[in-house]
Amino acid sequence: MAKYRIAWLPGDGIGVEVNEAARIVLDKVGLDAEYIHGDIGWEFWCKEGDAFPQRTIELLKNVDAAVFGAITSKPVKAAEAELAPEFRGKGLIYRSPIVRMRQLFDLYICLRPCKAYPGNPLNFKEGLDLVVFRENTEDLYAGVEFNPVPRELAATLSQISKPFAPFSKLAPEDYAISCKINTRKGSERIIRAAFDFAKKFGRKKVTIVHKANVVRATDGMFLEIGREVAKGYPQIQLDEANIDALTMWLLKNPFNYDVLVAPNLYGDIISDLCAQMVGGLGFGCSGNIGEKLAVFEPTHGSAPKYAGQYKVNPIATILAAKMMLDWLGEAEKGARIEKATAAVIAEGKVRTYDMGGSSKTLDMARAIAEKL
Ligand code: NAI
Ligand code: MG
Repeated sequence: MAKYRIAWLPGDGIGVEVNEAARIVLDKVGLDAEYIHGDIGWEFWCKEGDAFPQRTIELLKNVDAAVFGAITSKPVKAAEAELAPEFRGKGLIYRSPIVRMRQLFDLYICLRPCKAYPGNPLNFKEGLDLVVFRENTEDLYAGVEFNPVPRELAATLSQISKPFAPFSKLAPEDYAISCKINTRKGSERIIRAAFDFAKKFGRKKVTIVHKANVVRATDGMFLEIGREVAKGYPQIQLDEANIDALTMWLLKNPFNYDVLVAPNLYGDIISDLCAQMVGGLGFGCSGNIGEKLAVFEPTHGSAPKYAGQYKVNPIATILAAKMMLDWLGEAEKGARIEKATAAVIAEGKVRTYDMGGSSKTLDMARAIAEKL
């Protein structure tokens, strides 16, 4: 029996191609693992009315970790139109499988390292090495949304919230409500994870990202908890930044930042910004980490316009596989993958289109595998 059981979830479009590339590298590094394919993605929504079938959920209950490629998502009405006829009109609502997976398995940490590997022509600045901790299960992504707004909800809000007054006269279909729900537990555990990481890896500073001056209830609580948690880590500098100002400062003085921790939506935004500073979507890797399960993925989507061409950059997924090895306790193998990837980037001979080259997805994977 293999040492690890890994769920293998390629998904849609280029997800299939980048996963194939990551497998070349994992096989070469010699991870003792059994990879079990899991069905997920658009095809299963259309055919079965579920993009994340129950059998895949069951599979994830019995593995050590998972590698996920990407899935195609579409707005609710467009999704309904592509359902097989027997599933139409049954009230099935499309929800992104990856968002569901994060909530179902309580993968509360979204860890997104953004490192500028020397010689990458896409680096914004050489030497950048930022790490984003994004809360992954709540906030505006909790899925508590109303459009149209039920009358009983409007009636209650009219009674208990003064700022709701201007909205109270609207017809239900003339406005929409998405709830930003943050819990003490959810906020504390992501902030603690960021500080623990900083402590373990000798990082100097943790920046709490918020908009507490305006979004006082939720972000106010997040910031307050951040200050509390920081007291337990006197060796690490606590920094606080408003999300809007931060996007500007990150571009202006990125070296002022080190580890950043944010509620779900702000974390989503700044991690894309940070990924762009170190090469864009072809380099953005991420781990969705819980107590029992962790799912590793590139941050990009299924890029339908490139699907089937094997031309996209697999480095994001290869670095995601490296993160998985670290998480499994195979850090030596993980370090070898990172070193080999860095060597191929520095050499500059094999480059995919985004890096200005014409190498194919699997050529990049083979070049990295050869250096292991
Ligand atoms: P996308 O991330 O799939 O691609 C946008 C563009 O980024 C591509 O057209 C390409 O120019 C570039 N790109 C992406 N990955 C790349 C790579 N590995 N190498 C080089 N260039 C790369 O975003 P888009 O086009 O907005 O969404 C396509 C589909 O993916 C949608 O259905 C969307 O909902 C879904 N999506 C899924 C995600 C996931 O599975 N976690 C995340 C983001 C989007
Ligand atoms: Mg995103």
